[in-house]
Order: sequence, then C-alpha cells, then structure tokens
Amino acid sequence: MQLVTEDNVTELAEARWGTAHDPRTAEVLTALVRHLHAFAREVRLTEAEWMAAVQWLTRTGQISDEKREEFILASDVLGLSMLVVQMNHHFDKAATPATVLGPFHIDGSPELEYGADMSDGLPGTPLYVHGTVRDLDGKLVSGGVLDVWQADNDGAYESQLDVDEARLRAKYTTREDGTYCVRTIAPLGYGIPMDGPVGELIGRTDISPNRPAHVHFLINVPGYEPLITHLFREGAPYLDSDVVFGTKQELVVAFTEHAPGPTPDGGESAVPFLTAEYDFVLQPQA
Ligand code: BEZ
Ligand code: FE
Repeated sequence: MQLVTEDNVTELAEARWGTAHDPRTAEVLTALVRHLHAFAREVRLTEAEWMAAVQWLTRTGQISDEKREEFILASDVLGLSMLVVQMNHHFDKAATPATVLGPFHIDGSPELEYGADMSDGLPGTPLYVHGTVRDLDGKLVSGGVLDVWQADNDGAYESQLDVDEARLRAKYTTREDGTYCVRTIAPLGYGIPMDGPVGELIGRTDISPNRPAHVHFLINVPGYEPLITHLFREGAPYLDSDVVFGTKQELVVAFTEHAPGPTPDGGESAVPFLTAEYDFVLQPQA
C-alpha cells in the first residue's frame, strides 16, 4: 500500500496528475499541484480556512451565470487577468496596448453607422470618440470592426440590468479611409459589483473597488492580433488605483469640451459635447 505522508503527498499528487494524456495539460496540472501545496505549506493552512475557501468558491460559482461572471471578476481583482494579458500580448511599443476584457462584454452587439448614437437617448454628456485604425507602418485599415461597450451614468452595464434591447454597446466599422466615429455619452468611474463573494473579500481590505472612467473596445481585423482594450478619460479619479490593474498611460485620452456646434461626424450638436480623438494601432498577427 502507498504510504502517504506530509512530506511525500506533493510528489505523489504531481506524479498522478502528470499522467494527463495531453502534455500541456500534464504540465499545467502538475505545476498547479506543486504551487497549491506550496501555498498551503507557506501559510500553514488550517482546516477551517480550507473550508472557508471551498465555500467561497462555491458561492462564486453559485452567483455566476451567463450574465454574471464572478470568477472573471475574482481573477481581475487578484491581478491575474492583467498578468495573463501582459504575458500574452507583447505588442510592438507603437501598437495600442491591450487591457482586461472584464466581465461585461456581450456578443452580437448591433452594427451602427459612423457617428450613430449607441447611447440612444440615455442621460449623459454627449461624447464622440473618433480617429483611425492603422497598422504599425501607419497604413489605414478599412473594414475593421470596433466592438464598443460601456457603463451608464449609474455605473451599470447592460448585463447587470433587466433590459431587452442592446444598451450602450454597438459595433462600428472603419470607413475606406480607416476612420471611425462612436457617438455615446461620457463614461463615469464606477465601482465593481460588491454584492457577491468578490465584494465580501474586498470589504475586508483597504482596496478601493473603483475603476476610472473608460470605454471598452474589442477590435477585430483579419491579419492583425485582436485588440481588447479601453480608452480612459484623462484626469479621471482612480486612474492610479484601478481595482483591476487595467490602466496604461498610452490608453489615457483627453476628453475635450466643446460648445454647441459642429461635431466630428459632420453633424451639429445643440448642446455642449465632448470629443476624444484616438488612433488605434494594430499589431500584425504573428
Ligand atoms: C469593466 O471594466 O467592465 C470591468 C473590468 C474588470 C472587472 C470589473 C469590471
Ligand atoms: Fe468597464
């Protein structure tokens, strides 16, 4: 019979999980066993703490569904999502950097024309985000799809609300000359959901649950690396303390105030509005 001791259990478990049929699965699972055991040893994990952790994971699963991604949120606040983004997107310095996807992206957003309003009358200061999509050589990219989403003035994303229609999300396509124009409302900073297991943990710390004001972009163009990123409002609170570690200097953009008058899409605004100009630079696919 196999004699299992405190000293040899890690080796035995590693060997067992090393039998995974796919070599990468074996590599990942044996490393997971090694690090989990090392963690338990380092903190001298008690049985009560182990049970509390299991129950926390259970609650995290129970609160999750197709609209609420509590495990993504957990990964985000632990800095794991951003680590994975950084390790997997070593873009050229001139390319627009990637940041976290977050838990609120919804597939299948409606396709809107250049300058069409994705806020559809929701309260807020009108904002035009406009510019170009280019490659590293400065070549303008036409037909690129920008999938855009953001929170409303109460900090809520569509998936957190009970609504039937697409809300503050849309897809825009770059024109022949590589230009795009998103009409929306100025995003505000917001706090991540605190009413679940992630919030429970944050509440036991001095961590600020806030994110700086931003708009999300997912840009897909054949031949280029898909780009998941945000644009942050320059001067916004929490740029230095983003709870999910998602801010990057290159993604901070001035929101310029304008009196009523001509707008970047060639239209006219009867009320004051903001513009943010940004040229996205895509990394060619490896
Ligand atoms: C977001 O920006 O939508 C987000 C990202 C990570 C965690 C929570 C929210
Ligand atoms: Fe967000």
